Amino acid sequence: MPSLPLSPPVFAILSAIIEERIGLHYALAEQDLLADKISPRAQEAGFDSLLDYYYFLRYDPRGREEMEALTEALVVNETYFFREFDQLRVLVDEVVAPKVAAGRRVRIWSAACATGEEPVTVAMLLADAGLLPQVDIVASDISQRALARAKDGMFGRRALRNVPKPHLVERYLMDGAGEIRVHPDIAQAIRYSRVNLLDDQAVAGLGVFDVILCRNVLIYFRDETVRRLVERLARALAPDGTLFVGVSESLLRFGTSLVCEEKGGVFVYRRAG
Ligand SMILES: C[S@@+](CC[C@H](N)C(=O)[O-])C[C@H]1O[C@@H](n2cnc3c(N)ncnc32)[C@H](O)[C@@H]1O
Repeated sequence: MPSLPLSPPVFAILSAIIEERIGLHYALAEQDLLADKISPRAQEAGFDSLLDYYYFLRYDPRGREEMEALTEALVVNETYFFREFDQLRVLVDEVVAPKVAAGRRVRIWSAACATGEEPVTVAMLLADAGLLPQVDIVASDISQRALARAKDGMFGRRALRNVPKPHLVERYLMDGAGEIRVHPDIAQAIRYSRVNLLDDQAVAGLGVFDVILCRNVLIYFRDETVRRLVERLARALAPDGTLFVGVSESLLRFGTSLVCEEKGGVFVYRRAG
């Protein structure tokens, strides 16, 4: 079915409600892209005008529920095991290991975990280092569809496009029948929940963490959204806690309260102790 027409004024109000509710930012140059993403969902919900669809999202009592369905059409759940591996190596060896050696229990939050490859990788690396029993891992995303797949624990071959630790794949991901399925020891170390990163209360409700991973999601937000999110994450960090963002997502221009440090060749953001 062809996309529904999207005029500049309707683009302005639709992109504004999306940004207000879930943070994703669409520039005017992405007007056609947004029309292509929204139209199938709007048509499925029974609309042949994107202005009417906007009014439904904004004012109808069922609009909140429809926004959740639209969210699934908009988010990019792309991820894979061992992504940006150097950061995860530093997380285990230089952040978690010293805390566990000091007798601490460590809490880690994978804050936009998509289909789960990121927290599963962290759990496998911790298990390999003998640290997993001393660590709690929380993983969250806004996408119910992605979380359902994460909880299911089954993956396709593309999730293994980069494998710096093949023995971990053998030990924790191959189920003997040639399928990629997370080993129960790893799966049970991760608690999944749905959290919108724009929701102050939901973020605060997760408690305080020694490590937060918020990788490859800031690129979808405009600067002001990132600035507010980083302060929200800073409040969720324990003193001396560490935030990892994606390698292409420097926070330096935001003047954050976190201190940027180089550890083992990667940049991390630490809450001063
Ligand atoms: C590209 S994936 C990144 C996955 C993983 N962190 C990685 O680096 O491979 C981006 C994820 O951010 C999630 N996301 C987008 N907006 C969000 C929001 N407002 N709150 C929570 N998650 C969000 C998407 O659903 C998607 O799963």
